[in-house]
Amino acid sequence: MIDVLRTENLGIAFGGLRAVDGVSLSAKANGITTVIGPNGAGKTTLFNLISGALMPGQGQVYLGGQDVTRFGPADLQRAGLARSFQITNLFFEMTVRENLRLAAQRLEPTRQMLRPPRKTDRAAQKVAALIDRFELGPKAHAQVGALSHGEQRRLEIAMCLASEPKVLMLDEPTQGMSHSDTEDTARMIRGLTEDVSVLLIEHDIGLVMEISDHVMVMHQGQNLAEGTPAEVRANTAVQAAYFGQE
Ligand SMILES: Nc1ncnc2c1ncn2[C@@H]1O[C@H](COP(=O)(O)OP(=O)(O)O)[C@@H](O)[C@H]1O
Ligand SMILES: [Mg+2]
Repeated sequence: MIDVLRTENLGIAFGGLRAVDGVSLSAKANGITTVIGPNGAGKTTLFNLISGALMPGQGQVYLGGQDVTRFGPADLQRAGLARSFQITNLFFEMTVRENLRLAAQRLEPTRQMLRPPRKTDRAAQKVAALIDRFELGPKAHAQVGALSHGEQRRLEIAMCLASEPKVLMLDEPTQGMSHSDTEDTARMIRGLTEDVSVLLIEHDIGLVMEISDHVMVMHQGQNLAEGTPAEVRANTAVQAAYFGQE
């Protein structure tokens, strides 16, 4: 598998704490790469460094071979990196369709605005496809504020995909979900890899082992191990540092 996103020796310290300490990670094209590790291991901080929310103290980030290390969040988005920012990104008083329509707006090239709508309305087609894929059809005209927690989180992932990114970053997308919502969401994430490469943080180990192509274990800011789910599970250092605590 080709690496679509790569970090090299990436790091940041908060005061004396090396929250991310020289992490090199490769995310596979059209696969699911999952970062796991105990609370406080540095997973979210790693995502903040990759997505431009934090500037690294050391190391590099490459997206499709391009050095994007000093890019801010907006430039990274333009380069094809999308990150879900929890449901606070949604417009609660608008409908599901209206939310998606806004997110897909950037697909509409300004120069084509005067052409016949059926030929040019890529955004509308994208919205319809996302509603379908995320099984939001029955809720398309519902106000987002009236959706269940699981539906809102699903919509949030759909919103990230509306701009057709290369890489989608999801930080604990199933947090707070019921068991059945978690299973539905896992299945949907798995189905996304035809179009996008997924970089995931997930705490449900069973789910991680089931849907990931590549797993990286973080421990105290460092990359403790990476490999296939089976390789990671068999790693004795990982068992001692991580699975041993469960
Ligand atoms: N902005 C910040 N300022 C200071 N310390 C931080 C900041 N963000 C995270 N940390 C610390 O860095 C460590 C890693 O945090 P985090 O990346 O959130 O871990 P995880 O997502 O793996 O649970 C923790 O000890 C946390 O308290
Ligand atoms: Mg976290």
